[in-house]
Amino acid sequence: MIVQDTALRNEWIVACRSVDVQDRPLQVTVMGERVVLFRNAEGIHAFKDLCIHRGAALSLGCVRDGKLVCPYHGWEYEASGACVKIPQLPSHQAIPGKARAIPFGCAERYGFVWVNLNNNAPDFFSLPEFDAPGYRNVIWGPQTVNAKPPRIVENFLDVGHLAVVHAGYLGVETHMEIGDYHVHRDENGIRTDEIAVFQPDPDGTGQAKHVYYTYEILRPLTVKFTKRDRETSNEMSILLTVMPLDENQSVAYGVLSFNYETNMTDEEINSFQDMIFAQDKPIVENQKPEDLPLDLQVELSLKCDRASIAYRQYLNELGVKLGTA
Ligand code: FES
Ligand code: CO
Repeated sequence: MIVQDTALRNEWIVACRSVDVQDRPLQVTVMGERVVLFRNAEGIHAFKDLCIHRGAALSLGCVRDGKLVCPYHGWEYEASGACVKIPQLPSHQAIPGKARAIPFGCAERYGFVWVNLNNNAPDFFSLPEFDAPGYRNVIWGPQTVNAKPPRIVENFLDVGHLAVVHAGYLGVETHMEIGDYHVHRDENGIRTDEIAVFQPDPDGTGQAKHVYYTYEILRPLTVKFTKRDRETSNEMSILLTVMPLDENQSVAYGVLSFNYETNMTDEEINSFQDMIFAQDKPIVENQKPEDLPLDLQVELSLKCDRASIAYRQYLNELGVKLGTA
């Protein structure tokens, strides 16, 4: 089912990793919409995965001379969506103007392919770490989750669960209290103060200590935290971005950025992140209601939930509903 959400159709939604689109077309489902991605010399392009001739999935075809070729009768579509060749048509006949694929906005950025279903070229959020010298970036995901995106995003912004769900990894049971913090909103976006979190071994030396988390809300389904060690100035940030696959399922991706050397390989970093995410998954897959309550009178928040409250307010303002039709 198509997820009807005008606000999100205006967003860049993550579709897959850049490396997933090579020389063959790829089908992805984004907000219930079947999308074909294909790569040519100019870059990656996205169409509705549907040939106007007889409804074949263009993703079963191939890319030839930079054009997407339908698997059924070989019609060829150029990147604008225009059909430029119909092999069955006698050569003196013109290609009908209606012979077009439906293009979506498509961009390759931060190691991912992003799709904009309304094709209205919205601005991108910035992830300065990704191009900054001295930073190592690791692409994480995909992780499919049986939950709607806002529950997953809010879980990521939730500092209170670290010492409970991730006890022994991201928090310690003897240090569960969260000090007061505020959320600031200005032209640079929405971000929290630094929040102290006591961790058992934040830098791999085996020494438990406080690290400081800053949470940022970048877009409705894209958020980030930066974890800073005040003694060493080591910083690690994780960008989380979530794609609504259909009305019930989501796919999560991330970028982990480090300004310091770790002795872990990309694979080890990813498996650690998978393990942490696996601890969150049963929580978010079983929360009720499935839709994040945007009415702040629903559910009972604490002061330490200020990041979550700011997120709910932000979704409210944007009119994100994630309804279906
Ligand atoms: Fe695509 Fe016929 S269905 S060319
Ligand atoms: Co968690």
